[in-house]
Amino acid sequence: MNILLIGSTGTIGSAVKQLLNEHGHHVIGANHSSGDYRVDLGNKASISALFERVGKVDAIVSTAGQAQFGPLLELSDSAFALGLDNKLMGQVNLLREGVKHLHDGGSITLTSGLLAQAPMPGSAAISPVNAAVEGFVRAAALELPRGLRVNAASPVFVTETAAAMGMDTGHTLSAATTAKTYLASVEGSMSGQVLDARNYA
Ligand SMILES: NC(=O)c1ccc[n+]([C@@H]2O[C@H](COP(=O)([O-])OP(=O)(O)OC[C@H]3O[C@@H](n4cnc5c(N)ncnc54)[C@H](OP(=O)(O)O)[C@@H]3O)[C@@H](O)[C@H]2O)c1
Repeated sequence: MNILLIGSTGTIGSAVKQLLNEHGHHVIGANHSSGDYRVDLGNKASISALFERVGKVDAIVSTAGQAQFGPLLELSDSAFALGLDNKLMGQVNLLREGVKHLHDGGSITLTSGLLAQAPMPGSAAISPVNAAVEGFVRAAALELPRGLRVNAASPVFVTETAAAMGMDTGHTLSAATTAKTYLASVEGSMSGQVLDARNYA
């Protein structure tokens, strides 16, 4: 398959790119500052322009989406807006624009995260965004035409991310293991599902 991967240079995205390549797929990377193509997920016009340049693909995968971690009472308006504009509406718009550029039977895989179901102190601007991505996927799947599918991959804390932050790596999954969730969504037949990375480890 020809697969457009938004976030292909990231911790999760680079592992997803490698695994998709290993399974014979051609990955077109689109990121904010490098890769085959540039795109700003927080800007709908930028997403439209990306698809005009890339053309039709068989699958779209997002391993991007920014949201801010921080103590509830210290979170600014812009901290909340970042998650809503970038991780939520960016991925919503990826589907809205991407549908027009997918071959029949194609798929879209977005990224949410365990903090949707298991919040922690500091996740007040992230948990609602992840939950909204999951709600969007469940609803959007009901209306997609031409056999198109959409799912959300829900990573848990990634080992490499925890290590880079100097945090405990217990209860984490490596990026390579997390990538299996995305492969399952791309190659499977499910739609409207939230795929918990722990189930694909
Ligand atoms: N890592 C974890 O532990 C973990 C756990 C649960 C959920 N998640 C979620 O998984 C996703 C990826 O996490 P990650 O840790 O792999 O992130 P990451 O290492 O920071 O990588 C982010 C990727 O997204 C791209 N990107 C950043 N801003 C963008 C924008 N405005 N438009 C388009 N692309 C943009 C980056 O490209 P450039 O380098 O060019 O900016 C990079 O390729 C996020 O939504 C995160 O919330 C991560």
